[in-house]
Amino acid sequence: MHLPKAELHLHIEGTLEPELAFTLAARNGVELPYADTEQLRTAYLFDDLQSFLDLYYALMTVLRTEDDFTELADAYLARAAAQGVRHAEIFFDPQAHTARGVEIGTVIEGLGRALEASEEKHGVSTQLIMCFLRDESAESALATLRAAEPYLHRISAVGLDSAEVGHPPAKFREVYEAAAALGLRKVAHAGEEGPPAYIREALDVLGVERVDHGLRCMEDPELVARLVADRVPLTLCPLSNVRLRAVGVLEEHPLPAMMDAGLLCTVNSDDPAYFGGYVGDTFHAVHEALGLDREQLRTLARNSFEAAFLDHDEERRARYLAEVEAYEFD
Ligand code: ADE
Ligand code: ZN
Repeated sequence: MHLPKAELHLHIEGTLEPELAFTLAARNGVELPYADTEQLRTAYLFDDLQSFLDLYYALMTVLRTEDDFTELADAYLARAAAQGVRHAEIFFDPQAHTARGVEIGTVIEGLGRALEASEEKHGVSTQLIMCFLRDESAESALATLRAAEPYLHRISAVGLDSAEVGHPPAKFREVYEAAAALGLRKVAHAGEEGPPAYIREALDVLGVERVDHGLRCMEDPELVARLVADRVPLTLCPLSNVRLRAVGVLEEHPLPAMMDAGLLCTVNSDDPAYFGGYVGDTFHAVHEALGLDREQLRTLARNSFEAAFLDHDEERRARYLAEVEAYEFD
């Protein structure tokens, strides 16, 4: 739980806890089709990624003002800090907000205010990763990138998320080229529900530096060999994989096999308000269910800082890595 770690795969909208959702709904006059938080929680039984996304997009409609986004991010950062997170690279989905009339500046400035206070307030350094919704058009993604240009000082990378199957990475080649030209780094969800070919495409066509999930690489030994040789980080989310039924039960998760294969694995929470735990809870769960020992957990923590976008501040990375090595399990 308290092992120092970086979180690299976290959707800020996926940290919206039922209590905050109801608070914001009341404040903003949004009617939720659930009587209370208890009834809402009974809806958190998912068959697959799409069934989750339907609820995820519906509930985030309570987020309307800059303050709402600040409160959301601040609540996440407080929880993350309590679970050992020292550095967080946070996804957000601008199109899910602009599509319902919330300005992109409201979203980015609201999140940005919480993030810029985070180091002093919570002891967590932060970055922001702007994700494009892959089930929307490439034109919409490009328009989103253009709309974000006044706020680029707050954004370090672009990502790709939402419904994967049927929306291969290559659809976004141009927008990734444009993002790189603006100095943004590149990640993408691939191989969560989609085939190993989508992971290859994310690497070859989009030029991503990390693969989000990447779970299904294990079906393709040649791809595994390449990911190992190139030390491409994978941001795995074991609790998410169980809740969205990519994996039957946590005990069957391929994380140990992936680590044994030499893959640069990290463990993350994805959408913790929906999937039953934040990243410290996730470390605890993989220890219990998969029998990962303390040194394997330390490896996961070390990997998280090695995979972090801290190239501009190697001193910080070295400090975090030293904290990992010095950590004494209790
Ligand atoms: N958006 C939020 N969580 C996601 C996930 N696990 N996969 C794809 N898109 C997402
Ligand atoms: Zn995700």
